[in-house]
Amino acid sequence: MRKIISITNQKGGVGKTTTAINLAASLAAAEKKTLLIDCDPQGNASSGVGIEKFRSDERNLYQVLVGDLPIGEAIHDTAIPHLKVIPANQDLVGIEVEFIGIPDRERKLKHLLQELEADIDYVIIDCPPSLGVLTINALVASDSLIVPLQCEYFAMEGLGYLMKTVKLVRAGLNPSLGLSGILLTMFDSRNRLSHMVAEDIRKNFGSKVFQTVIPRNVRLSECPSHGLPIILYDIKSRGAVCYLELARELLANGRV
Ligand SMILES: Nc1ncnc2c1ncn2[C@@H]1O[C@H](COP(=O)(O)OP(=O)(O)OP(=O)(O)O)[C@@H](O)[C@H]1O
Ligand SMILES: [Mg+2]
Repeated sequence: MRKIISITNQKGGVGKTTTAINLAASLAAAEKKTLLIDCDPQGNASSGVGIEKFRSDERNLYQVLVGDLPIGEAIHDTAIPHLKVIPANQDLVGIEVEFIGIPDRERKLKHLLQELEADIDYVIIDCPPSLGVLTINALVASDSLIVPLQCEYFAMEGLGYLMKTVKLVRAGLNPSLGLSGILLTMFDSRNRLSHMVAEDIRKNFGSKVFQTVIPRNVRLSECPSHGLPIILYDIKSRGAVCYLELARELLANGRV
């Protein structure tokens, strides 16, 4: 059974893209056939797996969403055999406007994913930092979501809006949308605040929080500029070990 997971938080810079790339790569390393979908016009997930984002002629998600390209033809290979990607670039900004008034616009991605060939185990969707039509499409298409929270002050700011949106999506467009978990990111063990924020989040969300915590790790911030997931850039780094652990936790606990 294919599982579709959105990495979502409308707050910017909390580690969504880093998580999407490296969780997808870790699942692929566990021999799960994985498709990473870049649903953000910033195109960071695409460049992070080696797709040059400024080439607008590249086969990408925008062309698929507007019906110019069959979804299967937008799938690109990456340096990891079991990891494929549907890239995005700035063209995707147009979707917010072009979808206005289109019937069933929130279900476009869901319907497109149903056309995908069967031999994909996991689809990981990197969402933009907003709750607009792209994020709604991702949530409607997904079995569950992962919410990265940065271990900094104001980590939970805006979380209420996200949960309200999830509730609305469940009430109408996708009743079976689950929460895979909340993921603590950029944890700095030497920083007292990091510990306090992590403790606070666990107190509020209990077992909904992944046991795996992603530390602040320089290697993780370096690898996007090389177009490589962390497991290809520096497999021995703390960042690589923790994202592999996250994949293991997700697979073991059936947290989808
Ligand atoms: N665990 C980490 N350790 C160190 N740097 C990190 C870590 N996670 C993410 N970063 C860096 O922090 C920045 C923001 O991360 P990322 O792009 O993953 O966040 P995002 O939530 O996708 O942002 P946006 O909302 O703009 O899409 C990037 O420069 C990234 O390389
Ligand atoms: Mg991002």
